[in-house]
Amino acid sequence: SYPLRVKLVDVGPRDGLQNEKQLVPAAVKIELVHRLQAAGLKEIEVTSFVSPKWVPQMADNAEVMAGIARQPGVRYSVLTPNLKGFEAALLSKPDEIVVFGSASEAFSQKNINCSMAESIDRFAPVVAAAREAGIFVRGAMSCTVGCPYEGEIAPERVDYLAGLMKGIGVQHVGVADTIGVGTPLKVQRAVEATLKHFDINQVSGHFHDTYGQALANSLICLQMGVWQFDTSVAGLGGCPYAKGATGNVATEDVVYMLHGMGIETGIDLDQLINAGQFISDYLGRPSNSRAGKALFTK
Ligand code: HMG
Ligand code: MG
Repeated sequence: SYPLRVKLVDVGPRDGLQNEKQLVPAAVKIELVHRLQAAGLKEIEVTSFVSPKWVPQMADNAEVMAGIARQPGVRYSVLTPNLKGFEAALLSKPDEIVVFGSASEAFSQKNINCSMAESIDRFAPVVAAAREAGIFVRGAMSCTVGCPYEGEIAPERVDYLAGLMKGIGVQHVGVADTIGVGTPLKVQRAVEATLKHFDINQVSGHFHDTYGQALANSLICLQMGVWQFDTSVAGLGGCPYAKGATGNVATEDVVYMLHGMGIETGIDLDQLINAGQFISDYLGRPSNSRAGKALFTK
């Protein structure tokens, strides 16, 4: 059996745009968020409070957060790798923050310049401060099936990381296939390892689509009862520290699949496709969403 309703978090403005070489103006990012909420997205990952030297595209984080006309019932999340990022983020009043760790040591070093153990030490005060402030805390777990530097990642690594995340008070974790190398049974094992520490209602899937496996990986998660996914409008994205990895699974494609299965999302596919076309036009290339390309008219 499948969940009757699925919640999608559009990570396009953050995961989608962070890897763009050309700086995208804050106004365009804000317009994208507005179009996503108009399409019915109830959760949007807007930006990250990371070092502007590392990820220049996210340097306008506060400006983007300040420019959003917030809609009641919509939750806005941001990435915060350390206390410095959290303190800056706090001024923007996010509904949710995301700490991000990795099941691979090498990726942890490349992405956030510290070991897994050090990352947990940095996250712990962030999690405590966020919960104190009444802000929900999500943990992203990168490289849960494969790593660009270490190759295949065993489920035991995911088990270990999920346990550490749980131990510092993270309330929800995303099982990420950062470079999109996973196939359904490997993803299933990563999710099973996570479920040793988190309830099914506290786990989401975050699948990049490099090898075209992300829908299949999402489907097996649905079969396991997972009902929350991170997706990216127009299939935007990639991580600057994961060379060759393409964007997240396109929100449009996931919505098309879910609606076709009779699963509710609360999202208007036509409006979503228009949002995807808006950002693709701005970036000057075709949408990476198959459903978006098939259904776009005008
Ligand atoms: P570091 O250099 O180790 O940090 O970077 P540091 O504490 O030694 O500080 C060095 C400098 O950075 C100092 O500035 C700090 O003030 C500054 P300086 O004195 O040299 O002028 N700094 C900051 N500035 C702004 N905001 C901050 C901040 N922290 C320190 N929060 C750090 C550590 C984590 C900051 C750095 O490695 C970084 O920013 N990395 C970028 C990571 C990133 O954004 N990656 C992409 C997102 S994760 C992702 O895409 C995966 C995900 O989608 C799931 C998946 O698919 O796997 C979530
Ligand atoms: Mg990602």
